[in-house]
Amino acid sequence: MSDMLLGQVLSFDADPFEHGIGAARHIRQGAVLVDQGRILAVGEAQDLRRDHPGARVSDYGQHLISAGFVDAHAHYPQTAIIASWGKRLIDWLNEYTFPEEQRFADPAYAAQIAARYLDLTLANGTTSMCSYCTVHPASVTAFFTAAAQRNQRVWAGKTCMDRNAPEGLRDTAQSAYDDSRALLSTWHGTGRASYVITPRFSPTSTPEQLSAMGALWGENPSCLMQTHLSEQTDEIAWVKSLFPTARDYLDTYESHGLLRPGGLYGHAIWLEDREKHRLAEMDASLIHCPTSNTFIGSGLFDMDGLKSAGFRVGLATDTGGGSSFSMLRTMAAAYEIGQLRGRALHPAELWWLATAGSADSLHAGDRIGNIAKRMEADLVVVDLASTPAIAQAAARAEDIWQALFPTIMMGDDRATHAVWVAGRQVL
Ligand code: GUN
Ligand code: ZN
Repeated sequence: MSDMLLGQVLSFDADPFEHGIGAARHIRQGAVLVDQGRILAVGEAQDLRRDHPGARVSDYGQHLISAGFVDAHAHYPQTAIIASWGKRLIDWLNEYTFPEEQRFADPAYAAQIAARYLDLTLANGTTSMCSYCTVHPASVTAFFTAAAQRNQRVWAGKTCMDRNAPEGLRDTAQSAYDDSRALLSTWHGTGRASYVITPRFSPTSTPEQLSAMGALWGENPSCLMQTHLSEQTDEIAWVKSLFPTARDYLDTYESHGLLRPGGLYGHAIWLEDREKHRLAEMDASLIHCPTSNTFIGSGLFDMDGLKSAGFRVGLATDTGGGSSFSMLRTMAAAYEIGQLRGRALHPAELWWLATAGSADSLHAGDRIGNIAKRMEADLVVVDLASTPAIAQAAARAEDIWQALFPTIMMGDDRATHAVWVAGRQVL
C-alpha cells in the first residue's frame, strides 16, 4: 500500500548557490506519495489526493516535509566523547579520541555505540551519513549491521593508522589493505551500505600505508575515499615535517594515489592555491564541518569562494570533534562562519547543503537528499514551532524562509516531528 504525507514540502530543482533561491521549490499544501521505499510523486495535496484515493494518509498539517538530512562526515565511535573540553586538534585526539577508540576492540561496545549513534542521529532527522569507524574491523561490521537493521543508506570504512597512534589503534600497511579489502567485499553495495576507503590523515599513516590505500582505491574505483585535509595550522606544520618533500598537504595524498574523483576531504580550511586547483581538477568533495571548526578552534571555511569555484561541498557534524548531532545546529554554525567571512548564507543554501548538497558530495544526489520522483523515500518532518522561542519568531514570518530560519538557528531534536526511512515511518 502506498503512503501519502501531507504538509508543506521543500525540495530543490537545482543548487541554489549556482541558480539562486528560485532553485528551491516550496509547496504550502503539498503531498509526497511513497511506495516500496521510493517517492512515487510530489505535488499539490489536492491533486495527489484526487489521483491516489487509495493511499494511506499521514497528515502533518503545517509541518515541513523535507528530505532527511545527510551528514557527510562523522566519527560514530566518538559519540560518547562529544563535548570534551579544552583541547585543539592533536591534543584532543591524544587526550580524548584515541583512548575512546581503543574501547572498540570490544565488538559488544562497538555495537552498543553504533546503535546509540544511529538512534541519536535519527532523532535529529539525519537519515544518512558517511562515518569513520575505528581501526578494528569489527567496528565496521557493528556500524553496517546497526544501519541495516534500520534500513538506512550509509557510508563507512575502517580507519587506517600505522603510526603516531597508540599501539592498540595501529595496523600496518598490509593489514590495513587486507582488512579494508575484506570489509569492502562484504559490505560495498550490500543493501544500502557503501564501503569508504578511510586513511585517517597523513600524520597517522606511513607513506607505505598511504600507497596501499591508494592501490586499493585504484582497484575499487566505485568506492569513495575519505580523509582529513588542512584542518588546523599546527596539523599542517606537522604534516610538512613528516613529509619534507611534499609540495603541500594535499600532495601527501596525491603522490600516493589518494586524489581522484570520489575523494572526500574533510575540513579543507587552509588550502593553498595549488591544492585548490588540483582538488577542482579531480572533482573532489570538500566537507565543511562548522561546529567542529569552531569547537576545536580550527578556522573559517571559505564557503563562498569554494562554491563559486564550482566545488562539491558537503555539510557535516564531524561528531565528536563537532559539538552536536543536529544538522540544524550544523547549519546554524555554517551560517555563523559565513557571517564571520562576510557572506550571509541564505536558508535555502543552508538547507540544500544539509540535504542535496551533502548527498551530491557523496555522489548520491540521484538517490537521496531530495524529494523527487523515483528517489529513495528518506524524509524528515520538521516542526517549525518546536519551542516557544522558535514559535514566536516564526509567527511573524512572511515567507517560508523567514518561517524556517528560526528553526535553523535555534532548533534541535525537538523540531523532529517524524522520520521516514526507505518509505517506512521509523520515528
Ligand atoms: N583529524 C584526524 N582525525 C580526526 C578526527 O577524528 N577528528 C577531527 N576533527 N579531525 C581529525
Ligand atoms: Zn573527522
